[in-house]
This record gives sequence, structure tokens and C-alpha cells, in this order.
Amino acid sequence: MTLGSKVLKPIMWIYYSRLLKKKVFCITALFSFLTVSLFLSLKTDFICSLSFLSFPEMSSNLVPRESKHMLPFDNFCFHPYEKQFSTQRIEVNLSVNDLELTAFIGQAENIAIGGAWTPTECWSKYRVNIVIPYRQRQEQLRVFLHYFHRYLPLQQIAYRIIVVEQSAENEFNRGKLFNVGFVESEKRFPSDCYIFHDVDLIPQSLNNIYACTGMPRHLSSAVDTFNYQLPYCGILGGVVAMRSHHFIKVNGYSNMFYGWGGEDDNLYFRVSQAGLNVIRFEPDVAKYKMLRHIKEIPNPSRFQIMEMDREIYSAEGLNNLNYTLLSYELKPLYTRIFVHV
Ligand code: BGC
Repeated sequence: MTLGSKVLKPIMWIYYSRLLKKKVFCITALFSFLTVSLFLSLKTDFICSLSFLSFPEMSSNLVPRESKHMLPFDNFCFHPYEKQFSTQRIEVNLSVNDLELTAFIGQAENIAIGGAWTPTECWSKYRVNIVIPYRQRQEQLRVFLHYFHRYLPLQQIAYRIIVVEQSAENEFNRGKLFNVGFVESEKRFPSDCYIFHDVDLIPQSLNNIYACTGMPRHLSSAVDTFNYQLPYCGILGGVVAMRSHHFIKVNGYSNMFYGWGGEDDNLYFRVSQAGLNVIRFEPDVAKYKMLRHIKEIPNPSRFQIMEMDREIYSAEGLNNLNYTLLSYELKPLYTRIFVHV
């Protein structure tokens, strides 16, 4: 052994053992990081699933409508599905053609032109405007109308269905259409409760009462296409119920999300910033069927827009909304608001 290798060997040994220690340290650190992240994400979902309101709690959270008038009836409606858990289902007709819908209009009882309904024998505790952002989904809209005008009367909810249709020019802007639906409805038929609703979602339980709760509510927290599970805690897409003053408080949806995705996650952020909580009913109650359609391509810029909007959301939303109203029509089963946004 040369003198050089005699000196080099221990140095190399120290060097390699340090390297090994470093490697072990790095692997341990990475492993701990992954374990902690997994734990945190499981914990978030766990906490999220714990926060579902169960059946009896659920009805105590529903907020009755404010009435500025004398009650026209002595009796309040009974609202059976608010009081008793039911497994009863209404059949969803998945392909409703124009003829069938026209026949349905002929048979349907008490639906006022513009798609409004109210019980005639009792005073409904709940009144709601249901706003649907829309463009070129005729098949789904027919299925939706055919279903909801049977489903909501069974819950004895006073309601109006408002479809806000976007003109062809720009990419679809779901959030902005909701804002327009809110502003236009408040001018013509104000309500203290709004449900912001996708046209492709059909509630499967009659216990999912279409009324507002004390806090904003994510109604569609158990959708069949997500295996009836919440994909992540901060999701607020599909169907959301909000009291009008809360919607104004969070400054509505952002107007900046053109294309698919992001505006609902941004609403979750707005709701949290306003100090409000999102509540959800238990999955058996919050079950939805999603109607089939071609999957949209997500907007890749949605994360950047979300970042940007976090800085300016209090000045961007309902309070800077601009649009051109192209027409307003009372159709037999819904109110149509046609806009350029
Ligand atoms: C989108 C949301 C959407 C969610 C679930 C997210 O990436 O930003 O808009 O609701 O995915 O599909």
C-alpha cells in the first residue's frame, strides 16, 4: 500500500460514511414528509367527512323564508321529507323529447308561466330561486325540467327555475352567469335564498331539501361520478345554496373564469374569507346523479386566475359585473335570461 492510498482510504471512508448518512437522512426526511402529507390529506378528508350534518340536525339548520306579508293561509305546509328519512325515489327519465315535455306541460299542475310553483293549500316555509348557467344542453335541460317540476312540489318548496343562457361568442363563464342570474332575479322576483345549480345534476334523495341553511351549503357533495365521495374538502361545485345576504357578502362568484373549472374553488375561498363555513348534509341525503355529457377540457390557466383573484376578489365579482341582456322570456317551465358576457 502506498503512502497516498494509506492517507486516502480513511478520508474516502469518512467521505462515504458521511454521504451514506446524508442519503439515509434524505430518505428519512422524504419518507417523513410523505407520511405527514398523507396524514394531513387523510385528516382533512376525515375532518371534512365528520362535518356532514346528519338527518335530525339537518332540518334544524334550514332557514324559513322571511315574510313581509300576512300569511295567505292559516296553515304552514308539513314538508314531510324534512321530518322523516325516506328511501322513496322519483324516476328519472333520461331521455325526454320535445313531445314528451309538451305533454308534461299539459299535465303539470299549478306551474306558473316562467317555471314558478307554490303550494296552493298551505304556506310553504321555504322559497327559493334556482339559477342554472346554460348553453347548448337542450337534452339535459329537458330531463332537468321534467324531473324538478315533480321533485320540488313533493318537498312543498315555493320555487322558480331561472335559466341564464350565454350567447355564442365567448367561452362559457359559469360564475358570471350565476352573478347575472342573481342580479336579474333580484330585480324581478327577489328571494332570500338562491340555489346555484348545474343543469346536469339530479338529486336522488327527497330528503335533500331545496332550501337555504344558516351557512352556505354544498348540496351535491355525493355525486355518482365521484363514487358518492367528496373529492377534496374545498370543492364547492355542482349545486350550492346560499342566502342572498351571504352571496352579497362574498361578492358573488368571480367574473374572470372563462372556460372550465376554478370558479367554484374560488367561491370556497370567498366564503372562507367572509368568515362563513360550508356545510354539507350526510352522503345518503346529498346523493346526485350526473347526466352524461362529453367531458369539458379544463382551463389550464385556472390556477393562475385563482391566485390573481385572491388579491382582488373584494373588488371583482357582483360589484363589477357587466353584461348585455339580450332577452328575457317567461317560458312554460322556466324563466329564460339570455345574455352576452
Ligand atoms: C376544478 C373545479 C372542479 C373540480 C372537480 C377542479 O380542478 O377547478 O372547478 O369542480 O376540479 O371536477
